[in-house]
Amino acid sequence: MKASVSLALMELGRRFGEVEAVRRVSFRAAHGEMIAIIGPSGAGKSTLMRLINRLVEPTEGRILAGDRDVTALTGRTLCAWRAECAMVFQQFNLSPRLNALTNVLMGSLQRHRSWRTLTGLFPHEERLRAMTLLDEFGLAHKAFVRAERLSGGQQQRVALARALMQRPSIMLADEPTASLDPRNAAQVMAALRTINRDRGLTVICNLHNVGHAREYCDRIIGLRQGAIVFDGPPAALTDAAARDLYGAEQDEADITQATPELQTA
Ligand SMILES: Nc1ncnc2c1ncn2[C@@H]1O[C@H](COP(=O)(O)OP(=O)(O)O)[C@@H](O)[C@H]1O
Ligand SMILES: [Mg+2]
Repeated sequence: MKASVSLALMELGRRFGEVEAVRRVSFRAAHGEMIAIIGPSGAGKSTLMRLINRLVEPTEGRILAGDRDVTALTGRTLCAWRAECAMVFQQFNLSPRLNALTNVLMGSLQRHRSWRTLTGLFPHEERLRAMTLLDEFGLAHKAFVRAERLSGGQQQRVALARALMQRPSIMLADEPTASLDPRNAAQVMAALRTINRDRGLTVICNLHNVGHAREYCDRIIGLRQGAIVFDGPPAALTDAAARDLYGAEQDEADITQATPELQTA
């Protein structure tokens, strides 16, 4: 596993025509920090995440990872950065017909030639790593079960294991629990926290559940209309501040309770 990386966002901005999706966002994420990004839908959370791994180009500002200028990377070095940024989404994006183990192994594909994929010849040590990761998430017994037969929470944990196969230095999670029931959502948050603690991996996690942000993260950043309106430890986010953040959209988020998940689809 590569060492985890510190990030510095400097006056980062992204416009889509008239819309300022992200406005002059600046913060530093220390090595091994677990940060929740919260805010109503349309606040710019997903755009911010995609700016970090350069799936979206900034219109302003810079991103540093350690001493590398991420915003200046091109070609090979850009591909390497993207591989360093593991990403998981609300939709687990597994191959439904493949078993859990093969799905996890897919995470290492970027690092292998395609003939191995085509012939299913993953090296022994990769298979061992994939199995160890599944075991870490309590899913070793599901290794040979098709992804489509797993629960949502199990699928998301397979997706986390797959993301770790690429040996990331940072984990980006975009509303990873948004389509899960409370119990599965809590398991996925706990798995992310374990990844963060045991590997010292920097985690940035977009959440619509303020309770999860409070319970599992070291720090909460609140976005509203693209700009940071809160940045502090969970204890500093009062219920009033959370309500303020969501404004008229506050029924979108579960602000005061730690577990129940409101579905906002
Ligand atoms: N590719 C895009 N083209 C045009 N507008 C976009 C695009 N991506 C995001 N936006 C706009 O940027 C704003 C922020 O969106 P997003 O980052 O998805 O917010 P969130 O993830 O917090 O819901 C929204 O107004 C959205 O419509
Ligand atoms: Mg989003």
